[in-house]
Amino acid sequence: MSLSFDQLHGTNKRAAEILLGNDRGGYTVPSAKLYPFQWNWDSALVALGFSVFDPDRAWQEVESLLSAQWDNGMVPHIIFWKEEKSYFPGPEQWGTTDIAKAPPTSGITQPPVAATVIERLLAEDIDAHRDRAAKLLPKLDRWHQWFLDARDPDGRGVVAIMHPWESGRDNLPDWDRPLSFVDTTGIGGYHRRDTDIVNKDERPKNNDYDHYMALVRFGRDCNWNTDIIARDCPFWVAEPGMNAILRRAESDLIRMARCLGNDDIAARATARFARLDAGFELLWSETVGGYVTLDLRRGEHAIGLTSGSWLAMFAGPVEPARATTMASTLTHWLDQVEHGVPSFDPAHELFDSIRYWRGPVWAMINWMIATGLIEHGETDLAERIRRDTQSLIDQSDFREYFCPVTGRGGGGTDFSWTASMSLYWAARPETLPIPAHLSQSTAPTGTADQENT
Ligand code: GLC
Repeated sequence: MSLSFDQLHGTNKRAAEILLGNDRGGYTVPSAKLYPFQWNWDSALVALGFSVFDPDRAWQEVESLLSAQWDNGMVPHIIFWKEEKSYFPGPEQWGTTDIAKAPPTSGITQPPVAATVIERLLAEDIDAHRDRAAKLLPKLDRWHQWFLDARDPDGRGVVAIMHPWESGRDNLPDWDRPLSFVDTTGIGGYHRRDTDIVNKDERPKNNDYDHYMALVRFGRDCNWNTDIIARDCPFWVAEPGMNAILRRAESDLIRMARCLGNDDIAARATARFARLDAGFELLWSETVGGYVTLDLRRGEHAIGLTSGSWLAMFAGPVEPARATTMASTLTHWLDQVEHGVPSFDPAHELFDSIRYWRGPVWAMINWMIATGLIEHGETDLAERIRRDTQSLIDQSDFREYFCPVTGRGGGGTDFSWTASMSLYWAARPETLPIPAHLSQSTAPTGTADQENT
């Protein structure tokens, strides 16, 4: 049941006001100054917040996102709906105008959390939303297929990213070593805009930015040709966040397709799920004791756990012994900081409590981690994370992210996905999947059978 805007109060009302303030008519910008376009996974997660008080607007958000799908199936990470010179790198740097048609977009994707979100929007009222969901299913199906074709052409069962930005966790220490092999000759002389708006201690360093721009140049030079990228891109890395979100998205797509009677999509998604399910094991590192990034060019595991490691539980069932180990390591992480969940191991020498993705807490990652924990019966830990998230917002408002040590807010202000998560989590504290009898559940070994745990 959705509420009306007038029924919201206090923090919830303010969260809804932020969403409305960042609404640009059918799509929502993450933060007015810092990110003035539509971002892929931001938009999907923002739809959850809108669903609390305006379901129609929530559907519009995912519809506008998927309307920018490329012919090859990719859904881009940024959609440049309007010209806006204050952002870098803009359409000229990405060079996709011929491929993306109108409007121009970036040339990479982001974690495909959209299917999981759409499943939740549908589950709110299946009869009311059946037609809208049915129109989006083929787009999700094509996007998910693109991931396997373009980003796992060798059939290993893990999808690669070709740019740190594709992971959505832009500046993780995981990228340091794989990025060191990227040639930055001739890069430079560009003007970053992010550090005009946000303190530079909170943003990636210039050297990192040079590497990001070198990878944009690589993609643009090959016209974003996925065969060339898969064969030659110097950065080719599989990471647990992206792979977990995709694996979960497949099981949510299967559930929706069954509910709506689309057997073809259900069958294709089931096959993809099986491949991803088997491949996920490649990310397990016995040395680190968890799921970590794998540099596919060199066959090397990363040296530390990140907040993406915990998303393995969001992806689907983790075998009990591993789930227990993960829960106790996560508890140990939380015990070392005031507010969880840090984006990187707080005991690691590369931990940096306020610099972008090298330590800070993100509300939407917390929501995904907590959802996975609930599905594994770890309800106390999930509740601890929910409370931590809310206390960060109470202390520092709806910032882009938060310092796990002091609770200070960082990055952009009046941030859409922080507002959305706060609102949605308060309104829907439990997971709300499509009931099993409606998904005719002969689900794969995914999350579909876990709704009552
Ligand atoms: C940053 C984040 C990315 C997000 C974008 C807009 O680039 O790392 O995940 O999508 O900001 O909020």
